[in-house]
Amino acid sequence: ATEAEELDLVIIGGGVAGYVGAIKAGQSGMKVACIEKRGALGGTCLNVGCIPSKSLLNNSHLYHTIKHDTKKRGIIVGDVQLDLKAMMGAKDTSVAGLTKGVEFLFKKNNVDYVKGTGAFVNEHEIKVDLNEGGERTLRAKNIIIATGSEATPFPGLEIDEKRVISSTGALSLDAVPKKMVVIGGGIIGLEMASVYCRLGADVTVVEYLGAIGGPGMDSEIAKQSQKILAKQGLKFKLNTKVVKGDASGESVKIEVEAAKGGKQETLEADVVLVAIGRRPYTKGLGLENVGLETDDRGRVVIDKEYRTKIPHIRVIGDVTFGPMLAHKAEEEAVAVIEYIQQGYGHVNYGAIPAVMYTYPEVAWVGQSEEDLKKADVKYKVGNFPFSANSRAKTNLDTDGFVKFLADAETDRILGVHIIGANAGEMIAEGTLALEYGASTEDVARTCHAHPTLAEAFKEAAMSTYGKAIHY
Ligand code: FAD
Ligand code: NAI
Repeated sequence: ATEAEELDLVIIGGGVAGYVGAIKAGQSGMKVACIEKRGALGGTCLNVGCIPSKSLLNNSHLYHTIKHDTKKRGIIVGDVQLDLKAMMGAKDTSVAGLTKGVEFLFKKNNVDYVKGTGAFVNEHEIKVDLNEGGERTLRAKNIIIATGSEATPFPGLEIDEKRVISSTGALSLDAVPKKMVVIGGGIIGLEMASVYCRLGADVTVVEYLGAIGGPGMDSEIAKQSQKILAKQGLKFKLNTKVVKGDASGESVKIEVEAAKGGKQETLEADVVLVAIGRRPYTKGLGLENVGLETDDRGRVVIDKEYRTKIPHIRVIGDVTFGPMLAHKAEEEAVAVIEYIQQGYGHVNYGAIPAVMYTYPEVAWVGQSEEDLKKADVKYKVGNFPFSANSRAKTNLDTDGFVKFLADAETDRILGVHIIGANAGEMIAEGTLALEYGASTEDVARTCHAHPTLAEAFKEAAMSTYGKAIHY
């Protein structure tokens, strides 16, 4: 081993949490290294998550629209064909461009990019098994763990990424399956089910709970979303749990039973996607060498300033508490560097938006009706359907609505929930409103350009504190 190098900061993991932290540290002149074993920066999000999934969602939506939805728009197209290989190629090009972009930003901000697997030797030293062979030891005043998460496996159903796949396999199948079963109707399940349904697969989503969307989605929105997705051809089995899987035969067999009541059934598929959640990843990190423990869900335990019980070792992103979202990881990355440098930082966990990129998109920020009921908060509701919005009508895209939840007494916005085209962009306005402590009247009295989908947002706010004009 070479002699340890002394740095201000070492970050283990070059995902969104790690790379953003490294750039922020580099920008302010810290001597920083970021260790990543994958061979590319950007982590799950850029390589096998947010970015490739959105590429496939966008292009499969275009394919489906051109194949099935042009006639009423006055466009006659010929024989529309799918070139899955080229669609995957377009995805790979987007991913490569973005991961290389992060590498460029590392150079620009003097971040030492160390390609290899890092593990704790002691409280200040990390040993890196270099991808190219050999090892390097880094010594630092501060260490950030940003090692992310991995797909939770389904017991007894081994993931081979060909017939039994996680989201990673779903992003690079070489053929569209005839029959696909998706275990878990959360965000990964629904996004990937949408992609393959649009490309022609017969897809059944099995969900243990009585509603789709995973944790946090307002139940009125979840119901509406399910109806729309079912119209697109997706099949759902709710209140149904998968008890066993068997991939030894020609097709994969999935035994399911009613969550209550025990009625059993066997589903068969060419490809089964396991999408039952993700879990923190700390394998091989050597936490035991510094006496750091994880909780019952594998999360490294921290305080409000992201500190472990060893104060100069901090943890951010998917590997610790909070929603497993890239923009949450990014916020924490900036905050943690501010904590290290100046002793204070800021993330508003009450205003982190969530977006499901199906068609139409579903987006929300703040609390759902279920949250408010549980907390016994008195609230009022405002609604505006896209079917009454001029731009949505012009675009022939009228599915969905905007819903506001506001304090019954003060009118302060408590939650915004949208289902509709472009909901993922529109939610930024709701997030800003929540961050600023706005009332629905504040939003309703703000001029919105015409004709835009955002006018539905304004009118939903109007309908919360008074009356909408167009509905
Ligand atoms: P990760 O991105 O997982 O990065 C951790 C990195 O650490 C990895 O690259 C890993 O190789 C590296 N690493 C681990 N251990 C070591 C070690 N010992 N030494 C060196 N390197 C190590 N979120 C959104 O907000 N929007 C989306 O649209 C979205 N879509 C998604 C789609 C899919 C299919 C999936 C799976 C996830 C999606 N997510 C999305 C979630 C998002 O990807 C994560 O929240 C985000 O990547 C978390 O960032 P992170 O840096 O904490 O962890
Ligand atoms: P999830 O937690 O969102 O959903 C998993 C679903 O599987 C739940 O609804 C659960 O009830 C169900 N389930 C669990 N066990 C089951 C069983 N045995 N049988 C049937 N159903 C079962 O997890 P998912 O979809 O895997 O996503 C993981 C994380 O990735 C999410 O937390 C999300 O934050 C992130 N992500 C974000 C995206 C976005 O922001 N657009 C896209 C994709 C992922």
